[in-house]
Amino acid sequence: MTRKLFVTTALPYANAAFHIGHMMEYIQADIWVRFQRMQKDADGQREVHFVCADDTHGTPIMIAAEKEGITPQEFVAKIAAGRQQYLDGFHIAFDNWYSTDSPENVELSQGIYRKLKETGLIVTKTVDRFFDPVKGMFLADRNIKGECPKCGAKDQYGDNCEVCGAAYQPTELVNPFSVFTGSTPIMKPSEQYFFALSDPRCYTFLKEWLNTPGRLQSEMVNKVSEWLGEAGEKLADWDISRDAPYFGIPIPDAPGKFFYVWLDAPVGYLASLKNYCSKKGMDFNALLNDPGTEQVHFIGKDIVSFHLLFWPAMLNFAQHPIIDKLKVHVHGHLTVNNEKMSKSRGTGISPLRYLDLKMNPEWLRYYIAFKLNSKVEDLDFNGEDFVARVNSDLIGKYVNIASRCAGFIAKKFDGKLAGTLTPKAQQWISRALTVDGAERQASIAHNFEHREFGKALREIMEIADITNQYVDENKPWILAKDPEKSAELHDVCTTALILFRQLTILLSPALPQVAARVAEMLGDADLSWRDTSGEAVYESMLDRTIGAYSHLMTRVDAKMVEDLFDKPAVAAPVAVAEVPAASDIEPLAPEIKIDDFNKIDLRIAKIVNCEQVDGSDKLLRLTLDVGEGRLRNVLSGIKSAYTPDQLIGKLTVLVANLAPRKMGKFGVSEGMVLCASAADEQANPGLYVLEPFPGATPGMRIR
Ligand code: 2FM
Ligand code: ZN
Repeated sequence: MTRKLFVTTALPYANAAFHIGHMMEYIQADIWVRFQRMQKDADGQREVHFVCADDTHGTPIMIAAEKEGITPQEFVAKIAAGRQQYLDGFHIAFDNWYSTDSPENVELSQGIYRKLKETGLIVTKTVDRFFDPVKGMFLADRNIKGECPKCGAKDQYGDNCEVCGAAYQPTELVNPFSVFTGSTPIMKPSEQYFFALSDPRCYTFLKEWLNTPGRLQSEMVNKVSEWLGEAGEKLADWDISRDAPYFGIPIPDAPGKFFYVWLDAPVGYLASLKNYCSKKGMDFNALLNDPGTEQVHFIGKDIVSFHLLFWPAMLNFAQHPIIDKLKVHVHGHLTVNNEKMSKSRGTGISPLRYLDLKMNPEWLRYYIAFKLNSKVEDLDFNGEDFVARVNSDLIGKYVNIASRCAGFIAKKFDGKLAGTLTPKAQQWISRALTVDGAERQASIAHNFEHREFGKALREIMEIADITNQYVDENKPWILAKDPEKSAELHDVCTTALILFRQLTILLSPALPQVAARVAEMLGDADLSWRDTSGEAVYESMLDRTIGAYSHLMTRVDAKMVEDLFDKPAVAAPVAVAEVPAASDIEPLAPEIKIDDFNKIDLRIAKIVNCEQVDGSDKLLRLTLDVGEGRLRNVLSGIKSAYTPDQLIGKLTVLVANLAPRKMGKFGVSEGMVLCASAADEQANPGLYVLEPFPGATPGMRIR
C-alpha cells in the first residue's frame, strides 16, 4: 500500500511576518517531508503532500486592518505576499500555501458544523460575554488578558495559558482587562453556540483516540489524559461562536454569529489540501478515504489543546474520514540562550536579518535538525554552540572530505573515478556504512522517520569521522607526489568520494541545496535513498566522470552571529565633557536623609479605570490597583492634561501611605499620583504623570 502523507505545519496568523519560531517548525517539517520524498525512490511507496495556509480570521486581524484603513482581506493579502521570501530563503518547499479565508474553507467548516449539529453536539446557551464598555464591542479571547485560572501566571490571554498550556474560557481569567483600553470588561448577555465537549460521547471517543498507538508522543498522551480527568468531568463545552463585528465564517442559520477562529483554522488544513488537489487534478475525497493516507500535523506545544481535544472530536463526530489518519507531532519552543525570545532583551533573531547577513540557511537547518528529537522539549539556539557545531560538522567533517580528494580526480585522472576498488577500500566502505553487520542507513532512516533528527545526524557524522580517518591514514596529498602511487591515489580518492556521496544523500533532507550541487558535480540526476544500500552504494560510481569541485560551504564567522542578534536599545552615552546647560529649574528642596525618604511609601499602581468627576474642572477620578487585593479611589488634579482613555490601563506611581483626604463633595482620595511639572506653571503649564519602565507590576515599592 502506498503511504500517502498529508503533512502540515500550524497555520500562522496572518497578522505579522514570520519569526524564527515559525522557521524552526517549518524546517523541522520540511526535513521530514524531504526524507519521506526520498523514500519514494527507495521503495516506490510514498506520495507526499505538504501544505500550509494563512490563518486569517479573528478580531486581531480585523482590528489591525481597521487601524490601517483597509479591509481584512487586503491586510491578509499584504502579509501573504511577504511569505515566499522566507520560505525560499530557508529552502522550505510547501506544495501549497493557501488561506483560511477561502471558499473551500467556508464550505468545509460549515459542512463539519452541520454534521456536528445533526449529531446533537451543538448546543446554544445565553452566556455573559466580556464587553469593552469603552470601545463598545464584545471582546475576543485574545483581547482580554489576566491571570491564568490554573497556574496563576500573569498576563495570559483569555483562551489558553502560554505558561502551563491550559485552555479555558475568558470568563475564568483572574483580574481580566481589555487589551484595547485597559478597562475592566463588563459582562453582557449573548446567545452563543457551543460544541458539547462535556457530552460523555466525547470523553469515550477521546480516551480511545488518544491511546491509539503511534498517534501521539507519550508526553502528550499523559498531558491530554490529565485534561480529560477520570471520566471526562473536566471537559467543558467549547464556545465556537463570536458576535458581529467579526472577520470570520458565518455560522449557518445563525444571523450575526461567526465561527470562532479556532473552529475554522484546523479545517484550513483540509481547505489547503483541497485547493491543492484541484490545482493538480487529484481527487480530494479519494485521498481522504484512502486507507494509505496519513494526516500528519507538526505543531508547537502552545496549541495542543486545540489539536488534541477539539480537532479530533470535531472530525470524529462529523464522521470525517480523515479522523482515523490523524497524527500530531508536537515540538517545544525555540529559546535563545535558554531564554524566551524577546526583542527588548536583545535576543530576538530575525529570519530576514539572517538572510540579509548572507548567513547560509543550511547552517540553520543543520543546527536545528541536530538539536531536535521526538520529544516535546524546547530547543535552544546558542550562538557559540551554533558556530562550533556548523564549523566542526559541516565544514570540518563533511565538506572537508570532498575538498581534500575531489581535486586530485580532476587534476590527475581527467575527472574519472577508478573502475574497481581494492579489497582494502571495500573494507573501509563497509566499516563506514555498517555497524554490527547492519547498514547504518536503515537506522538513520528509522531516526528520520521518528523525528529523532539529532540521532540521525550523529550517526551520519560517525560515517564522516570514519571517512576522514581513512583519508588521514592514506594521505592522498602525499600519494599525489609519487607517480608510482597513482593507482593508490585513484583508489583512495574514489573511495572517499563514494563515501562523500553517501553522506550527501543521507544529509540531503537537512541540506537540500548543497546536496543538489553535489549531485550536479557528481553527475547524478538526483540523489536517491535507494543508493544508500548494498552495491548501489558504489556500483554506479565506478568509472564515472565527475565535474570539477567547487567550494560547497564556508565556515560560520562568529561576528555574523553577533550581528544576528537584535541589539538591546541603549541610550548613547553622554560624553564626560558634555555638561548640559543649566535651565530655569525650581531650586532644590533642603537635603534629607534616607530615613526621611523611606517614610514615603511609593508604589506602582495600575490605573484600571478613570472617569470625569461631575462638577470639577480640575479632577479626574482614578481607580487604582496597588496589588493589595482591593482597589483605591484617588482624585487627581490632572484633568487639564489627560483624558480618561489616555490613562486607563497604564501604570503609574502612587504615594500609597498618604493619609486619606476628604476632597469636599467629591469624596475621599486614598493617595496621590505623582506628576512632573515645571516651576512656573503659568509660563510652562505641562503636567506629566509618571510611568515606570516596562516590567514593573502593581504593588512594587519604589526605593
Ligand atoms: O497559534 C497559531 O499561530 C495559530 N494560527 C495556529 C493555527 S493551527 C491550525 F489549527 F490552523
Ligand atoms: Zn497557566
